[in-house]
Amino acid sequence: MAKFPVEPFKIKVVEPIRPTTRAERVEKLSQAGYNLFAIRAEDVYIDLLTDSGTSAMSDNQWAGIMLGDEAYAGCRNFFNLEETIQAITGFNYFVPTHQGRAAENILFACTVSAGQSVPSNMHFDTTQANVLARGGHPVNMIADVGLDPQIHKPFKGDLDVEKLEAFIQETGPENIPLGMLTVTNNSGGGQPVSMANIRATGEVLHRYGIPFFLDACRYAENAYFIKLRDPDYANTPVLEIAREMFSYADGCTMSAKKDALVNIGGFLAMNDEELYQRVCQELIVREGFPTYGGLAGRDLEAMARGLWEGLDERYLAYRLAHTQYLADRLLEEGIPILEPAGGHAVYLDVKRFLPHIPQSELPGQTLTCALYLEGGIRGVEIGSVMFAYEDPESGETVYPDLELVRLAIPRRVYTQAHLDYVVEVCRALYEKREEIRGLRYVFAPRLLRHFTARFEPLP
Ligand SMILES: Cc1ncc(COP(=O)(O)O)c(C=O)c1O
Repeated sequence: MAKFPVEPFKIKVVEPIRPTTRAERVEKLSQAGYNLFAIRAEDVYIDLLTDSGTSAMSDNQWAGIMLGDEAYAGCRNFFNLEETIQAITGFNYFVPTHQGRAAENILFACTVSAGQSVPSNMHFDTTQANVLARGGHPVNMIADVGLDPQIHKPFKGDLDVEKLEAFIQETGPENIPLGMLTVTNNSGGGQPVSMANIRATGEVLHRYGIPFFLDACRYAENAYFIKLRDPDYANTPVLEIAREMFSYADGCTMSAKKDALVNIGGFLAMNDEELYQRVCQELIVREGFPTYGGLAGRDLEAMARGLWEGLDERYLAYRLAHTQYLADRLLEEGIPILEPAGGHAVYLDVKRFLPHIPQSELPGQTLTCALYLEGGIRGVEIGSVMFAYEDPESGETVYPDLELVRLAIPRRVYTQAHLDYVVEVCRALYEKREEIRGLRYVFAPRLLRHFTARFEPLP
């Protein structure tokens, strides 16, 4: 038996990647204002910016693309997708959207009023921004273990249910239009949420008449973690686990660019018919007619097929083990990462990697730049640039507890040799970490700062 599950696929199409010289990278980084979102993809050697929309589609999905029915209304691919989503989630209604944040935008447009709060284990940045854009308050209630980067617990994505109940009593259920859980918890290290916590979160919210939605983009990885880590589910098929997860919720937002293995697409699903009617109105204004919702028929077909492939247990076993491989190799080299490994990514623990750089000097962003300079690797900061904010009362900057650099692994794209290269670059950088200096802002937009901010190195 191989130590790690062998890729359950072989490669039929390849895309060349080109290493660059250090001199080239120095120039590109300076031109990009030290923001890796502004670097051209062809100037990146190993691109771990995101696992979103970067999957390699299968021959079956590409075959589905050729069966796209591009009718404006009622295309056959919509019905294939509807059947698939109902079989997996059990929700009564759904609309396609062009990606996850579009589903969030439409859901919050129909539910959140100014001044209301939306609790979650941890909102992802687009979820947080979409709540803020409606004048709402996104509130994170991750259990304390989720904030400790070293403690080994099976479900570090769990929400603190007692905190949630106290918050509802304090705030008043009428001021909470919905509650959410992000599965897995991307902003907190890709850590899974336990079945017990999904159930308990649903129970508390429902006791106060508050609808419960899952941010489900990595629901299949979460379901497989439940199979691996909760003995009660060790022999349960992953589809059944997924169905049970959805059964405690009233709906979900989905970025299909993750566990549905497509390059574009998403959906919003729900049980409430009245909400669905309002969602359709909003969808027609913003995305498109409800049987295509901002996508082509071919995209709907690729999503329907990808949803099933993303639930394949041999694929999921390989997927989680592939990520685990990178984590184990980094740990062998003594490199600090958030433990245990997440499903879709390994997160460098920046507070331990660069302890000499305070959060005011943006150590996470600094480390993303250093990785690019050292080896042409592109990761993403999930720390002070993404989440620090100014306290409205004191005017002081509040920094996030976790300062991370996420190395997200695109699905079915990179081999073990690519990951070995990443480890070598991280090791070389870790050896000279004390030479690394921080950054400061040259430009910082108000919302979703990390995408377009520009920086310069501190003297
Ligand atoms: C947890 C989570 N929610 C929502 C989104 C938004 O999805 P999209 O990029 O498709 O808009 C993402 C994307 O990375 C995510 O990780």
